[in-house]
Order: sequence, then structure tokens, then C-alpha cells
Amino acid sequence: MDKIRIFATCDIGQAALDRLREKGWEVEVWDQFEAPPYEVVLEKVRAGVDVLITTLRDRVDEEIFRTGCGKLKLVAQDAVGYDNIDRTAANRYRIPVTHTPDVLTHATAEFALFLLGSAARKLWPSEELVRTGRWKTWHPYLPFLGVEVTGKTVAVIGTGRIGKAFAGKCLGLDVDLLLYDARPDLQFSSRLAKLAEERRSLGLALRTCRVEYVGPDRALREADFVSLHLPLTEDTRHFLNRERLGWMRREAVVINTSRGAVVDEVALAEALRDGRIAGAALDVFETEPLPLDSPLLAPELKEKVRVFHHFASGTVETRLSPDPDRGMAGRCVQAVINLLEGRYGGDPGRMPWVVNKEAFRD
Ligand code: GLV
Repeated sequence: MDKIRIFATCDIGQAALDRLREKGWEVEVWDQFEAPPYEVVLEKVRAGVDVLITTLRDRVDEEIFRTGCGKLKLVAQDAVGYDNIDRTAANRYRIPVTHTPDVLTHATAEFALFLLGSAARKLWPSEELVRTGRWKTWHPYLPFLGVEVTGKTVAVIGTGRIGKAFAGKCLGLDVDLLLYDARPDLQFSSRLAKLAEERRSLGLALRTCRVEYVGPDRALREADFVSLHLPLTEDTRHFLNRERLGWMRREAVVINTSRGAVVDEVALAEALRDGRIAGAALDVFETEPLPLDSPLLAPELKEKVRVFHHFASGTVETRLSPDPDRGMAGRCVQAVINLLEGRYGGDPGRMPWVVNKEAFRD
């Protein structure tokens, strides 16, 4: 029997990859910092690799699946989002695609909360003041003040795993939570509302905070902070478009840790420039890395826009742990092991973390 060959388009961490090598499988890792060109990945598939380990930097399209048909057994994505992978094509050739949900939920949710805090309390302008020697004296309100988060209204747009975790963390700040999701989970909102009541009765909050599902218009019109937790699909592309940005309050801040294309960045930059909203803290962008000529990086927006390098899940534990219950790398390689060792009766339709289970229902 031919040796199993795995091509990883990125070094997802030695400890996790060693779990595959220990099985006697050949693991080739693209060891450069930047992603391999598309043609390199295609060539590996043409040369007959059994498994591709991918990240969100790779385009995995119809041609990859067509070329891999008959040999490629799995595309294992080291991320929860998989909008870079053509699921319809994967289904056409019945090639399973896996991802790494859950293990990055809290890292991402806490990062969204920290982005919210960094925008509200102007952490970067404050640090810059110190570093540039422009901190001349203590003053009650000059050169600027932040906005207190406690007691404000936060809209959580998308209440999947990460949106829910974010909402739970926000509750500690006694904010009113306006939840929006195309498929509301009313049990979740009513239980979170009970938790809010419990916080008040314990004396941890001065009042009982509201937790309720609302339509997108109410969420956007009433919130001081709007945090986006939507997967990128055809339905959610440019969810936050010019019209919806127009619904938002002048004081409102947008937080995005989901996918850049959920926001129309040109419209967002315009709204910020015209003072129609107050700020944005963004970890994801329509084009990554964010081009230096992006309107979001315009010098006049410097005080209002915080930008990060798609870093929300970027903790040592979350990214690198080889433990499938702890880290993305661990979960990614466990998915490979499940498939190659024929676990779960060898049926991808029953394996955890397989995205396209529908392709394996007869
Ligand atoms: C990161 O953005 C991920 O989808 O895991």
C-alpha cells in the first residue's frame, strides 16, 4: 500500500503535526511564512496527496477537488471559518472538509470584548500620548475622554457559538444585550436573562439588564456597540452595508471579529469619516493583509479605527495545543486521524467536525 501523504499549507505547530508523523504518515509542511501559491497546492493534489491541511489563506476551489478526485481523502481546515473552501465542489466529489469549531470560541469572544474595550476607553490613543511625549499633565477631561461600557447597550449580530460566548462575557459589564440571528435561540436568551437577574439579586449589578432577540434594525438603531459574529455566506456578505450603517447611532462603535466581507468597508470608512458613527475595532478585513491604501487606514480615521491582524483566536493554547479538546491544531489533526484510521465506522457523515456531512448521506 502506498504511504499516506499529507500536505500542510502552513506550519500549524510541531506538536500537533508530530501526532500525524507518529502514525508513520509522511507530512510535508509548507515552511514559508506566507501561504503557498495556489498552483503549488494544486500541484500537490495532482501529485496525489491524501490529505490537505489548509488555513483560511488558501483558496480551495472546484479545480482542487476535481484534480483530487479519487485520491484526495480530506481537506482539514485549521480554522472554524471555511468560506475559502468551495463546499459545493467538495460535495460533488464527495471529499470531506473538516474545521475546528469550539476550541477557539472563548479566545475569539474575549478578544471581541477587548476590542470593544479598547475602542470605548481609547487605549491606543492614550498609549500613543505617553509614547510620543504629548502627555503634558493630568487633566479632568483633556485631551480626550473615553466612554464607559458598563450600563450601555451591545448588539450581538449572530448568535452561534462565538456570539453566545461574547454575550455571556458582556453580561459581566451589565450591558443590555440586543441579540440578532436569522435563527434566534430563545432558550439561550431567556436563560441569559435569568443570569442577568441573578447578577442583580446578588448585588453585582445595579439593575437587571435586558437580554432579548430583536430584528437587525432595532439592534443597529439602539446599540452603542455592535459586535459582528456572522459566518461569511452569500446571505451575510456586506450585512453591514451603507443602509444599515445609516441606522446606527452617532456614538456607536462597530466590532468585527468574524469575516471582513460581512462589512462593506468603503461604506464603513465613509460613515466614520462623516461622523455618522463613532468608531470601529476590526480584526478581519475584506482583503487580508489589509492593504495600506485601504480607506480604513486613512490618517484622519486614526483615532477612530483600531485594526488588528486577524488575531482573535491567536493565543498559544488555542492555536497550538495538540489536544483536540483544547487547540485548533489538535482538533485539525484529530480530524485527519479520525478519517485516515476509519474511526466512526469510516463514515465521514458521523465524524465530528466534518462540515459537509450532507455529502455522505445516501
Ligand atoms: C479564524 O478566523 C477562524 O475562522 O478560525
